[in-house]
This record gives sequence, C-alpha cells and structure tokens, in this order.
Amino acid sequence: MTLTISKLGDRLGAVAEGVDMNALKAGDAEALRGALLDNLVLCVRGQKLEPQAYFDAMGVFGKQMPQPSASSNHPVVKDLLILSSEDRDVLGDGKRIVVGAAWHTDDSYRAVPCSLTTLYGVEVPPTGGDTQFVNMYAAYDDLPDATKARIGPLRVVHKYDSSRKGNKIAKRTAEDMAAMPDVIHPMVRTHPVTGRKALYLNPNRMESVVGLARAESDALLDEMTAHATQLKYQYRHKWRQGDIVVWDNRCTMHKANGDYPQGARRYMLRVITEGTAPA
Ligand code: OGA
Ligand code: MN
Repeated sequence: MTLTISKLGDRLGAVAEGVDMNALKAGDAEALRGALLDNLVLCVRGQKLEPQAYFDAMGVFGKQMPQPSASSNHPVVKDLLILSSEDRDVLGDGKRIVVGAAWHTDDSYRAVPCSLTTLYGVEVPPTGGDTQFVNMYAAYDDLPDATKARIGPLRVVHKYDSSRKGNKIAKRTAEDMAAMPDVIHPMVRTHPVTGRKALYLNPNRMESVVGLARAESDALLDEMTAHATQLKYQYRHKWRQGDIVVWDNRCTMHKANGDYPQGARRYMLRVITEGTAPA
C-alpha cells in the first residue's frame, strides 16, 4: 500500500488514500501531518478501526483530550464522543438535535480550545449529512487593509450559550454551565505552527466585541461572518463510510447538515486534540 494525497476542494481539503490507521508507517505519519497543515482539512479514506484503536490512532495528529458531555460519551472508550442521528436534547425538550448545525469552530467557549477535531464516519447516510468547511486564512487574507487594521486589535467575548447562536444547543446542567465562564479571544489569531494569520470567529459562541456598543458589535460580527462563509472559501465533504476527517479549528470553521432522510442512520466517533490559547 502506498500513501497518496490529493486535493479535494479549491481552497481547502485533501484526501489521503493507501493507509491503514491500524498500522501506520512512520513516514506516512509525517506526510499526514504535513497534508493537514497544508490543506486544513484531511480525509483519511477507507478506515476500519475499533473504537479504542481509532482513539489511539489519532495520537498521530496530537495529544487526545477528554470531551465532557452530558450524554454522548462512548460507553467503553469514555474520551470518544458519539455524534449520531439518535442525538436528543435529553435534559431539555427531548427532541432531536443536530450538533454543530450552524457555522462554528470547535471549543471556542473554552480559554484553551482544542486544536484539531477528528470525526470517524462509522455509519453515514446514503444522501445528505455533509460537513461544510471554510478556509479562515483565505478569508483573512482577502480583507481590505483598512479592515485588517481595524480588527487586528479587537477581542471578542465567547460563551457557551451565546445570545447570537444560530442553532439549538443541548441543555446542560446548572453545574456544567457554571463551569463554563465567558472567555475572550482575539478576532485574528496567528496559527502557532504555520505562523499564518486567520480570522477567528465562531458565530455560534461569539457574544460581543470588547469595547463596542451592542449594535456596532453585532454589525461587525455579522459582516465578518458573512464574509468568511462565502461559497468561494468553502469545501463541502460528502461522507463515505470509513472516512476519518481531521480539521484544524485554528484556521477553519465548519457546519453540520441534518438534511439526511428520516430513518437513515449517521453515527460518527469524535476525538479532539489539545490546543493553545488563541493569540
Ligand atoms: C463536530 C461537528 C459536524 C458534523 O464534530 O464538531 O461539528 O457534520 N461535526 O457532524
Ligand atoms: Mn463542530
């Protein structure tokens, strides 16, 4: 088996074929990490892994970290999160919930968000259920110089239950909520590995821009979000069973789609890796 890497989208996304994550060769590990840094989203195709083996294999990309959750941790491998068509808002109205259905970057409600997310498509629907991604380096690079100068020093309050959020989120216990105080992140961050600047937005968690009046803050956040989510910055992943898709939350946003046929099953296993405070 020989590793090949090919581009998927025009602006981001690549696919790796010819690897078995159960028995990765040393040289291939380096190539996968490089392909992720260059392409921001990397799909490793055709994998067949037991839950623990999947969790362990993701160590090639970074140090795995726990994912506290009300209800969706894997029963055997507790640091794996399950995302599935069976997800329900168990502490809230009990209805179906599609995790991540609005544009976001993972974990920005934490002071130190994860760097990468990996999602393993164990069961994917026959149609629908795509994941969309945008390139936040490109969205930043294309801004007019005056806008770059304006937003460069700005900082943004992020919170778990933002009043601006675009999708329903699962209800959490009061204790959980208390453990997630608001945090402040820069609007533009420098990727700690590539050194490139990226817009750092999370339309789902951003509450307000520090120091701006509400109306001005809302207008700026809306403007930046509309800019960054344009089709020209996107790659849309159509899942195949056995795909492991890895993305870099420091320079991308993504969005789930709950549009698959009723009764179709979507079952994904998720790992996140440790990051650094955005700066
Ligand atoms: C996530 C996420 C998108 C999807 O796992 O963080 O947003 O398509 N997933 O399931
Ligand atoms: Mn997400």
